[in-house]
Amino acid sequence: FGIMGYDPAFMNTASCRSAITFIDGDKGILRYRGFPIEQLAEHSNFLEVAWLLRKGELPTQKEYDEFQHHVTYHTYVHENIKRFMEGFRYDAHPMAMLTAGVAALSSFYPTSKEIYDERERDIAFIRLIAKMPTLAAFAYRHVKGLPYVYPDNALSYAENFLSMIARMSEPKYEAHPVYARAIDILFILHADHEQNCSTNAVRAVGSSHVDPYSAVAAGVAALYGPLHGGANEAVLRMLEEIGDVKNIPAFIESVKSGKGGSRLMGFGHRVYKSYDPRAKIVKKLCDEVLKVAGMTKDMEIALELERIALSDEYFISRKLYPNVDFYTGLIYRAMHFPTDYFTVLFAIARTAGWMSQWEEMLLDKEQKIARPRQIYTGIETRDYAANRINL
Ligand code: CMC
Repeated sequence: FGIMGYDPAFMNTASCRSAITFIDGDKGILRYRGFPIEQLAEHSNFLEVAWLLRKGELPTQKEYDEFQHHVTYHTYVHENIKRFMEGFRYDAHPMAMLTAGVAALSSFYPTSKEIYDERERDIAFIRLIAKMPTLAAFAYRHVKGLPYVYPDNALSYAENFLSMIARMSEPKYEAHPVYARAIDILFILHADHEQNCSTNAVRAVGSSHVDPYSAVAAGVAALYGPLHGGANEAVLRMLEEIGDVKNIPAFIESVKSGKGGSRLMGFGHRVYKSYDPRAKIVKKLCDEVLKVAGMTKDMEIALELERIALSDEYFISRKLYPNVDFYTGLIYRAMHFPTDYFTVLFAIARTAGWMSQWEEMLLDKEQKIARPRQIYTGIETRDYAANRINL
């Protein structure tokens, strides 16, 4: 390969320097800007975490109040965006709608192309954090055939999102506080995860100096893929397939024997080789949500599956532990979100990380347009025969 390194999927290459998120996969550590994820999940909220990710410091009271005010008053989308969303088929996948909706925002805010103007970056950050739940809720209601619900500026970020999703009659929908807090915590946990596939996509597309809406649309598209955002859906399908606690040992044996290439979904991680720190928080959260929603058969199977797997030599020797997705799907299902909607919830949260990483990339003087090289494996050269066919 000459002097060129070959590293498919960049498994062993750092593509950037970043001061945003730190992961120690062996020790099971995740920190945003130095703050342990456990502390943020317990004491902070999604808006504060979004600010922290972007700015590098926690906001003062004044900064937080102003940021919350701006986000609250930018939740509405242009009416033409609403019409645009109405144009999708009744059975459109919500992630396809979200990808297109975010890309469409670029045409509504043409000055966002001024990416080296800090005020433009400020407003784009506010707009994307504010409008993502609105677009996501429109996608949800479109598929259900329900009228869209406009944002309610009197509500918190999570309550407003749940109101746009679940409100059935005017004038108010009151989200259960346990559900609203659960959504907020899940948004914190999913807000960033260093150079994952979608963040890498946002950085790569953004490195062409396109506007941030287009770069984030690329991130949403990457997240749509089942290997990235779709794992919690797969966990629920697996729990359904198992069907009963008594079937778990046989299922584990089939996974271990590699039959049909099946894997224990929600287990294992490329980076974490111990318990995913987010999974611990999510498991506790799941208990709290199910106290309100009622214990489900899926949860009983999940708990027993985890217990058996964590004491099995196959999983111990390969350092396979539950990852964040093992329990998130159970929470979303308990809250009655459709399975194909889970990734949309992930996208709302990850917007904070995408925008922070996009801006860090732009301001990093060492960054250039993403343009990897390749190892050419094709035919070296040959001649084109003129008149071979009629063209
Ligand atoms: N169930 C059974 N065996 C597994 C699993 C699993 N979930 N994950 C890995 N293994 C085995 C694998 O068969 C291999 O065994 P052997 O050495 O005998 O060939 C060994 O463990 C190493 O596997 P790998 O494929 O080299 O590990 P990886 O780092 O490439 O894969 C992973 C990481 C997350 C893709 C994988 O663990 C997996 O497919 N897990 C299930 C899907 C899942 O839960 N994905 C969500 C990831 S977290 C969300 C996110 O951060 O985006």
